[in-house]
Order: sequence, then structure tokens, then C-alpha cells
Amino acid sequence: MHCHNLPPLLLLWISISFKVCIANQQDFASCMSTHSSPGYIQDFKYIHDPTSPSYPNLFSSFQQNLRLNFTSSSKPAFIVMPYTETEIQAAVVCGKKHNLQIRVRSGGHDYEGLSFLCRLPYIVVDLTNFRAISVDLEEETAWVQSGATLGELYYSVAKSSNVLGFPAGICPSVGVGGHFSGGGFGTLLRKYGLAADNIIDAYLIDVNARVLDREAMGEDLFWAIRGGGGASFGVIIAWKIKLVRVPPVVTVFTVHKNLDQQGVELVNIWQNVASKLPQDLFIRLILQNSDRGEVEVLFDSLFLGSVEELMPLMEKRFPELGLAPIDCSEMSWIESTLYFQRFKPGRDPLEVLLERNVQAGKSYLKAKSDFAKEPIQDIVWDAVRKRISEVEIGIMIMDPYGGKMDEIPESELPFPHRKGTLYNILYIVQWTADGEAESKRHMNWIRELYDYMEPYVSSSPRTAYLNYRDLDIGFNEPGNVAYSQAAIWGTKYFKGNFKKLAEVKSRVDPRNFFTSEQSIPPLYDQGKNPLLFKM
Ligand code: FDA
Repeated sequence: MHCHNLPPLLLLWISISFKVCIANQQDFASCMSTHSSPGYIQDFKYIHDPTSPSYPNLFSSFQQNLRLNFTSSSKPAFIVMPYTETEIQAAVVCGKKHNLQIRVRSGGHDYEGLSFLCRLPYIVVDLTNFRAISVDLEEETAWVQSGATLGELYYSVAKSSNVLGFPAGICPSVGVGGHFSGGGFGTLLRKYGLAADNIIDAYLIDVNARVLDREAMGEDLFWAIRGGGGASFGVIIAWKIKLVRVPPVVTVFTVHKNLDQQGVELVNIWQNVASKLPQDLFIRLILQNSDRGEVEVLFDSLFLGSVEELMPLMEKRFPELGLAPIDCSEMSWIESTLYFQRFKPGRDPLEVLLERNVQAGKSYLKAKSDFAKEPIQDIVWDAVRKRISEVEIGIMIMDPYGGKMDEIPESELPFPHRKGTLYNILYIVQWTADGEAESKRHMNWIRELYDYMEPYVSSSPRTAYLNYRDLDIGFNEPGNVAYSQAAIWGTKYFKGNFKKLAEVKSRVDPRNFFTSEQSIPPLYDQGKNPLLFKM
């Protein structure tokens, strides 16, 4: 349609809206200039609006998962890439003043894109430039800024010491900001728990743009941001973490078996054994299509010790797997982080951990999660095999719990999936072909698999892991803060801790400025005032 065909009233409306929009943009920019360091603001080095040449590239770099597009979202009015905390404080002040929501993006790996998509007018605060890491060897701690990736963290720790590590996720390009604030786990989970279990301090910018450390924010807010999702409470700018001891030599192995009758038997044994093994041994399962066109199960393992120590342990506790020394490789802990990402330790340089975008090509992706509390019977694995063979990339990853996870009470942090959990399940489907039919086929596939699994996994509620974000389990409409509505998905992620999260939210952000489809709502009283609790 050409402009001159538009009715005059509509033209007037468009012209007014355009002017309001430009005026808002100018207002926001000048607000930022008033509230942040003048040196940078001169040439807007860290603020990108849709007219900046840098904007389109930045914006498309956010969309690693093609399923997450901007059809249901507006585009951000600004992308703010701060270098200093003053600039983040300014974004909070000016976002509030000009009615712009804030989406905070650290590594950008959110499975539903909540760090860069929003249905209301918004800005993205992207912490890519906010990623310093400093390791204190004497204290065995580190300060890490939220925009750092796990790979950058592991790399910095390993450059300082070969006997220190950190228990967080497997994919090196995941951002510390989202990962720590949602829990975060990887191969050291059974020995040391979650990343969030090993956080000892943090700096957060709250809704009033104050910078608060642990002492200033208080123990309840500090509790909430270690597993309850940071985006509901403010912008977390840095974390102090307790590093953990790892031996100079660890052992890894990956045993491939077809998911035939013998494979299913091994899965059964694994279900009974994996969460009860010594804490130094982590064996996870991956079910997927093999290169040979069969569905296979991978026994993928990290042992915190040598092959010589591992062999008698496996012979005693899981002889059926038939592990031989030739299946195992010894290496340093940092090399094992490459191994689990399918790099070649010893051949690929450690610097591959510093790649912020490791994906070779963009694809469509959907994920969902479950927790198993009882072993699942054979007939289910037969059906799962059939389902996995129906798509090219349909994966189930099962991470064993037990060990340290059994020792931490459910209410210690917002992440409640502790004692009695045998393992976590991550379902993933991935595809590359464009088009609605392909999208529907793959989305149906994962949703049907999820429905099929319902009787065999945790129930009342059927639980889910916040970091494996899934809007299928429920979400808040923009602006809707009904507690009962949010409790549907909230109790799945947090069980009994959801109410405490809402209480903390009422106290620290009673007007619900930091809001998204799955943010914690404040609790309101009958008169629609936020309930303020004594804590
Ligand atoms: P992103 O920047 O997208 O943020 C995620 C959420 O946190 C958003 O709501 C965002 O607004 C909020 N947020 C981010 N930074 C914030 C800050 N500084 N302050 C306040 N809020 C902030 N998980 C796991 O436990 N173990 C694993 O091994 C893996 N592996 C893995 C691999 C791949 C390829 C993907 C895509 C995901 C995983 N995950 C995972 C899940 C991962 O932990 C989860 O997606 C994290 O939230 C990602 O954190 P990012 O900072 O990258 O995400």
C-alpha cells in the first residue's frame, strides 16, 4: 500500500505516532546522557537505536534459535551495551521514566528468548562488554561479571590453577548472568551441587537503580537471585563464587550402545545406580539418532580421579557396561570441559572456550524438561526409541542427581529439585528447514513426547527446570500479575519456594517493573496493594 492511498485520519495518526516515537527516543537518549558518563554518551558508543548502522547486526546476532523471531514481539527501541555500572543504572532510571521494559541479556541462551524479546515497548541491556573475571587464589574465590560466559570463566580459573574448577553447565557459550540466576549445573553437580550453591556474594542493580551487594540487599533477595531467575528482581552485574577443588588428572569416557534390548537393560541399570554412585563419578545419558541410522544411548562420564581408580569402581558398581581402560582418557579438568563440548582436548586449543557463539549454523530449536523420581520401565524406552527415530535431531539428555544434591534442603535456594530426584531430563528437538509445516511437525513431536512421558516422571506438580525455559507450561500475559495464574508454572519450577519468591518480589519490586512472561509476580492484598512482608 502506498502512503497517498491512506485515509487522512490514519495518516495523521501515523505521523503523530512517529513523532511521539522519535520524541521518546530522543527523550530516552537525553535521559541516558543525563544519568551516565558523559565521555561515552557523546557519540553514543554503547547505545544503539534502529537508525544506528550497528543495530541490525546486533539484533540478528541475538537470534541464534530461528524459532524465536520477532513476530510476537516488537523490536527493542534501544540496545544498550554498557561498559560501566553507571550506564546500567541509567538504563533502569530511563527505562522506568519512559515506560520502556528492560530485557537483560548475558549469554542470550534463554530457550524462549526472554532476554531479547518483549511484547511491550522495551530496551535490551546486553552485558557482552561487562565480563571481567578476577580469581583470588588465596581465598579460592572469583568475582565474575554477568556478561562472561562459562567458557571464559573456566578458562580464567584454569589459567590460574590446575586444581581449581567451578561446578556449572556444559556449554561454554552459556552466559553467567542467566545460568547462575536460574541454578546451573554440569558434570560436577553430584560432587558440588549447582553453580548457585557456590555463590557467596553478588552485586545487583535494583528497581531504584541502587547498586546492592549481599549485605545491602539482605539474605532473602540474595536467596531469590540464586535460582529464582535474576530478571524478576533487577540486573545482577557480578557474582562472587567459591571455586572448588578438582584433581590435576580426571578421567572421561563415552560409551555408545544401540538402544536395543541390551541398551534398554543398561538404561535400567543406570537408573538404579547413577544417583547412588560415589560423588566423584558422574555418568549422564544421551539418547539420539546415531550416524548408523539407529537410536543410540551414550554413557557420557566424568570421573574425578585416574583410570586406575575408576576401573575397580565400575567393575563393582556398574559391571554390565563393560567399561575397559581403552574407552577412557585421562586429562586435566579444563580439558574435560572441551571434551564434553565435543572438542578434541590436546588438539583444539583451550581458547575455543572463549568463543561466544559456538553454533556452526542457525537452526530452529525447542526444549522441555522433566525430573524422574522413580526408574522408568522398559516399555517406555521402547516407545521413546520409536519416537526419536521419527525426527532427525530429537534428543533426550539425562543428568544423574544424588550425592551433594541429596544433602541440600529443598528450601535452601529457590531450585527445589533435590533429595529423591534420580535424574533430570532435557528434551530437545532441532530442525533447519523453514516453513510452518516443518515447524508444526517438530513442535508436535516434542509436545507429544512430553505428554507421553507424563505418567512416568515427577507429579503434583510435574516439575521443570527454570533454565530449560518452556512457555508451554504457562506464562503471564503482559501486565497480568495474577498470582494464581503464575503459580501454575511457578510451582513447577520452584515448588513450595514460589510463594517466598513472590514475597521477596513484593518487597523489592512491588510495582512489578521487572516483568516478563515468566517473571515472579508480587503478591497483592484485596485492595490491590502489594503485600509487604516482614522478613
Ligand atoms: P540469557 O542472556 O538469555 O538470559 C536468560 C534469562 O536470565 C533471561 O530471562 C534474562 O533476562 C535473565 N538474565 C540474564 N542475565 C541477567 C542478569 N545479569 N541479571 C538479571 N537477569 C538476567 N543449563 C544448565 O544448567 N546446564 C547446561 O549444561 C546447559 N547447557 C545449555 C546449552 C545450550 C546450547 C543452551 C541454549 C542452554 C543450556 N543451558 C544449560 C540452559 C542455560 O543455563 C539457560 O538458558 C541460561 O538461562 C542461559 O543464560 P544466558 O545468560 O546465556 O541467557
